[in-house]
Amino acid sequence: MLRRVLLLAFGLLAPLALAQDGSVTGATSSAAAAGYSCDPSKCQLPKCNCASTSPPGGLSPSDVPMFVVFTADDAVQSYTLDAVNQFLAHRQNPNGCPPKMTYYVSLNFTNYTLVTDWFVAGNEIADHTMTHVGTPPQDEVNGNLIALNALAGIPLKSIIGFRAPFLNYSVDTLKLLASSGFTYESSSASAIPVTDPGTDAFWPYTLDNGMANDCLEVDGSCKGQPVLPGFWEFPMYATFDSRGTEGIHLMDPWLDNPNGQTTINDTATLEYMKSTFTDHYNGNRQPFGLYTHPVHLSTTYPGVNPSNSTINMINQFLDWAQEQQNVWIVSNAQLLSWMQNPKTIAELDQVDALKCSTPQIDPSTKICSGIPQNEAGLLSLCPFSDFPFYTCYGCPEVEPTVDNPNPNQVDGQQARFRCASPLLLFPSIAAPPPSACVLTNRLPVPTNCSTPFWDPIAGKCLCTSNDCAFVDNSRPIGANGANLTGGGTGGGPLAGGSSGTPTPFVPFNGRGYVLPSGVWPATICGALGALAGVLGVVGRL
Ligand SMILES: *[C@@H]1O[C@H](CO)[C@@H](O)[C@H](O)[C@H]1NC(C)=O
Ligand SMILES: *[C@@H]1O[C@H](CO)[C@@H](O)[C@H](O)[C@H]1NC(C)=O
Ligand SMILES: *[C@@H]1O[C@H](CO)[C@@H](O)[C@H](O)[C@H]1NC(C)=O
Ligand SMILES: *[C@@H]1O[C@H](CO)[C@@H](O)[C@H](O)[C@H]1NC(C)=O
Ligand SMILES: *[C@@H]1O[C@H](CO)[C@@H](O)[C@H](O)[C@H]1NC(C)=O
Ligand SMILES: *[C@@H]1O[C@H](CO)[C@@H](O)[C@H](O)[C@H]1NC(C)=O
Ligand SMILES: *[C@@H]1O[C@H](CO)[C@@H](O)[C@H](O)[C@H]1NC(C)=O
Repeated sequence: MLRRVLLLAFGLLAPLALAQDGSVTGATSSAAAAGYSCDPSKCQLPKCNCASTSPPGGLSPSDVPMFVVFTADDAVQSYTLDAVNQFLAHRQNPNGCPPKMTYYVSLNFTNYTLVTDWFVAGNEIADHTMTHVGTPPQDEVNGNLIALNALAGIPLKSIIGFRAPFLNYSVDTLKLLASSGFTYESSSASAIPVTDPGTDAFWPYTLDNGMANDCLEVDGSCKGQPVLPGFWEFPMYATFDSRGTEGIHLMDPWLDNPNGQTTINDTATLEYMKSTFTDHYNGNRQPFGLYTHPVHLSTTYPGVNPSNSTINMINQFLDWAQEQQNVWIVSNAQLLSWMQNPKTIAELDQVDALKCSTPQIDPSTKICSGIPQNEAGLLSLCPFSDFPFYTCYGCPEVEPTVDNPNPNQVDGQQARFRCASPLLLFPSIAAPPPSACVLTNRLPVPTNCSTPFWDPIAGKCLCTSNDCAFVDNSRPIGANGANLTGGGTGGGPLAGGSSGTPTPFVPFNGRGYVLPSGVWPATICGALGALAGVLGVVGRL
């Protein structure tokens, strides 16, 4: 049974109210409900992949990497990036590259300039609707694309994934995502252990033959529906405590009481996360997921006091996982790239998506590159009362909304080239006022330019080919390369452990952002005043 539980978190600032969760209480599918059939001789990579518990491309489990997918949902703020960084910033994958992750971003409380930074640092930016609604209408989904493109400079072609708020989606959601040009969706649960013969822990698959997960829950799905050729589903793999199927945990497992106990117990949570991981690792190597609402683990967010024990436990888990051979911490976009063209462990050097590169930009150049030293002095603070944010792409004169995701730029500000021409892309979206497009009427990041090289002030690209000015920092790996375990283990900042080998191009680290003096603290004081009386307690209803 699936219970879409609302995780309400009361905090002193509004974003906690968005940290909501979909959680499962038991199996959400069965072979009978799935009624799934797919002919692998007709459904072939890279465009088609049958739902299967076995690795893609006919590879044997011992020849494929063990992927740990790390995701975060909701607003991007300094607090939430600090929270993610305390788990990832000090780590390396086996090729020496910093791990990348997927951020499912919603509009409310997002600090757009940090989205640019996070993307240019190599992470995946994906869509989680504008205002965090379940079974979202098309404008909520596409408006978010436009806002992320216009205010954070994320190329539309790079926003390929979606996760539904509350994990609440319908067959229509899947259809509208496919029609809006998304490549994958990741809201369904794999809620039967991989050790169970009837497991629904399928590797990511395309919907050429319909869904095979959540069949007991989502009306009209499965038994061959919906047919969306080439559109991928990435199941979210649950973890299971000592009660097995009865003891299921999906998002933020560290906020759950384990083993039917009545309190949080990090020791027990670590035990079952390890045992579920081992079941995957020793079995068919279906990916393992760490699906987070990072605000709950932020040590910098006013009023949230995550326990050190929980933070250390998650780092211990990742340390332990990384000590094992062939474990890679990845974004869903990296996993997708490998799925489409799967390579054995010995051939991983050939997988571009797993490599890391540094954009070479003169530190003294003033450009909105997503690199703080280049952007210094160029950011605008857009002081909206609901949630102020910074952007390098010019402040909109009103708050972006579902009806108007890319409002005109404020008069008198240095003009930016950021008109996304949403009408051309998504006819169903209300057009921004025509004056918004008078300035340039073109895409902010042309398809032949990358975000770090696009100058929205001059309206030109510093580097007009896809790979110029990038330097590859990956180290050799595979049959003739270096070893196949990751590095930088030893816990995060709280553990006081080793910080690992310095990684190239880390534009900010776990403590990189401090509140500037001036407007921002004043805003927080205002928010504190408005919400006085609300307890600073993170709880679950
Ligand atoms: C927003 O971004 C600016 C610029 O990077 C930073 O100084 C500020 O601390 C950020 N605030 C939040 C709440 O994310
Ligand atoms: C899913 O979202 C829709 C629209 O917001 C809502 O009507 C419905 O009750 C939600 N379903 C669940 C199970 O929460
Ligand atoms: C926490 O879990 C561990 C390991 O399962 C167990 O030994 C311990 O008794 C538990 N602690 C509490 C307070 O329940
Ligand atoms: C999100 O922001 C919009 C304005 O863009 C506002 O209408 C809505 O109420 C906000 N939602 C939440 C949950 O704060
Ligand atoms: C990049 O695209 C722009 C606009 O489409 C075009 O004018 C320019 O010539 C292109 N540059 C290269 C190097 O292809
Ligand atoms: C394996 O990786 C570790 C951690 O980066 C490094 O210290 C060690 O020298 C590597 N061993 C080989 C044989 O490359
Ligand atoms: C948690 O860790 C922080 C940072 O190391 C430290 O300042 C704080 O005192 C610790 N809190 C507890 C309750 O141990």
